[in-house]
Amino acid sequence: MTDDPAAPCYITTPIYYVNDRPHIGHCYTTLLADVAARAQRLIGRDVFFLTGTDEHAEKVSRSAAEHGVTPMEWATRNAERFKDAFAFMGFSNDDFVRTTEDRHTTRASAYIQKLVDSGDIELGDYEGWYDPSQEEYVTESTAQEHEYNSPVTGKPLEKRTEQNYFFRLDKYEGWLTQQIESGAIRVLPEARRNEVMGRIRQGLQKVPVSRRIKEGDTDWGIAMPNDPAHRIYVWIEALCNYLTIVDTDDRRKYWPRDEPLAVHLMAKDILWFHAVIWPCMLCALGEQPPATVYAHAYWISEGRKMSKSLGNFIEIDQLRAYADRYSLDAVRWFLTTQGPLGSTDADFAHARFIEVYNSDLANGIGNATSRVGNMFDKYFEGEVTRTCNGEFGFPDGKALPIALAARDAAGKPVDDPTRTFDFAAASAASVRTSVEATGRVSLDEAAAAGIELSRMVDDFISYTAPFTLAKQLDEHEHGEKALATILYTCAEALRIASLLLYPAMPAKMADLWRTWDCSTLNDPDDPDSGFKAPLADLATWAHPEHGIRVGQTIRKGDPLFMRADPKEDPPAAETPSS
Ligand code: MSP
Repeated sequence: MTDDPAAPCYITTPIYYVNDRPHIGHCYTTLLADVAARAQRLIGRDVFFLTGTDEHAEKVSRSAAEHGVTPMEWATRNAERFKDAFAFMGFSNDDFVRTTEDRHTTRASAYIQKLVDSGDIELGDYEGWYDPSQEEYVTESTAQEHEYNSPVTGKPLEKRTEQNYFFRLDKYEGWLTQQIESGAIRVLPEARRNEVMGRIRQGLQKVPVSRRIKEGDTDWGIAMPNDPAHRIYVWIEALCNYLTIVDTDDRRKYWPRDEPLAVHLMAKDILWFHAVIWPCMLCALGEQPPATVYAHAYWISEGRKMSKSLGNFIEIDQLRAYADRYSLDAVRWFLTTQGPLGSTDADFAHARFIEVYNSDLANGIGNATSRVGNMFDKYFEGEVTRTCNGEFGFPDGKALPIALAARDAAGKPVDDPTRTFDFAAASAASVRTSVEATGRVSLDEAAAAGIELSRMVDDFISYTAPFTLAKQLDEHEHGEKALATILYTCAEALRIASLLLYPAMPAKMADLWRTWDCSTLNDPDDPDSGFKAPLADLATWAHPEHGIRVGQTIRKGDPLFMRADPKEDPPAAETPSS
């Protein structure tokens, strides 16, 4: 991946089936893409973030028929639900593709025609185990292993024979192995990469890319170019969306012809399509493969797998109920930091939500910002009166006087009196950690770097006890200067922490920037309009332009997060209509 902070960056989510309404799983992957997109924009990159809906599936037309409407009406109804859910979640996607749109279907057909012309797609007979619930064929060994039931839904597989067009995936085995092994295509997390490599080593076979239209079929789907008796298999068509939507003059920079750049996010269920079939299709088309394919694990609910039959999906309305009580950013924070980002599933449990909310947010960044704002209000009428250079200390090099180490009732230091707090170095390290973790899509680690910096501020406050110092100003030669320096140090560290927390909690950080008059970072009234400089400058300690400055207003404002009562029942969602 490039180190150029201004380089283009393309982030995608799966496009979701519109047979049903969205749930936590769809919101989660799209949230990760949003957090990654915001983090990359903050770094200074030119980001294109795409999400959308996959509409030509058989299950969409089946479900439409069950509801007595046309497939298009049903697709539109559910696509709107996805759009609403994503707007509610505060996602900053640059576009939303519906695969029924012309801009997708025309280009997808052209790609398929190109593969037919190059001999990468050919006609042949196919017999295999078809999983109607997932709309895909599974291999004989997978079928056997799951006793001829769907490995995903457990529903029975069907033996199907059909004349099909096939993509010659087998031709690309050597190329793909080399791409993944060399890291040209990063398959993450590591455990998933090993699984994929293991399966590739068993050999790649031709994959069907069409199905023959049967009596009684609806005309839902895209016809095979030059052979209307066949319809393009929905999976193959859907994968093309990543390219169709940026295959225009002004967006081609997001899918350059000379280097892999795209980052595809998804869950483990559909990794094979993204890490194997799609890169090989791209190679056959003469295009670059994706740079990163990241497959996270699943959300489960109160310890159980979410499924239709158990009726325990965490629905959008439940997330709305949490957002109403604890704020949307608290929901975003919980999902980002506690979700199944790695290779193990994560549980959405109320008790855990409250624990994380109180510890990271109410007692963490919320408390730190409100204490510091409060002290500025109380001791300096809400105005910053001095800054300090780099390290904690006076510019003239003299150690801070005090009592700076917190004292016990008997006046003895309770901590090591020689302890130093090098916030300039610590904040630079937090920014490095966060940027590096963002590059690996370890967005939980990237966010945690912000919280750790705010915890260092808490430690510093306990150590320097500014509230004690404020009562003893006369006893110290430099009492007031010391107090102002301590508060400046806290505010500057929290300003930098807030930048690292912004991708996960954009609205709350914008609230803080308004209360603290941080208009040198971005426009606090329109935070999504962009930052005034790349993160490397914004997050430089005591930056002359973007740092906390003399004369800046810092007030207490409303607390960012109120403490939650662990005994309170989970917020109840209204039962959604189907
Ligand atoms: N339409 C295909 C994808 C085509 S992409 C070219 C599809 N759609 S889907 O609606 O079934 O979405 C699957 C995706 O939804 C998963 O890969 C994941 O991103 C998200 N999730 C669905 N359930 C999930 C959980 N329980 N937990 C986390 N994410 C999950 O497959």
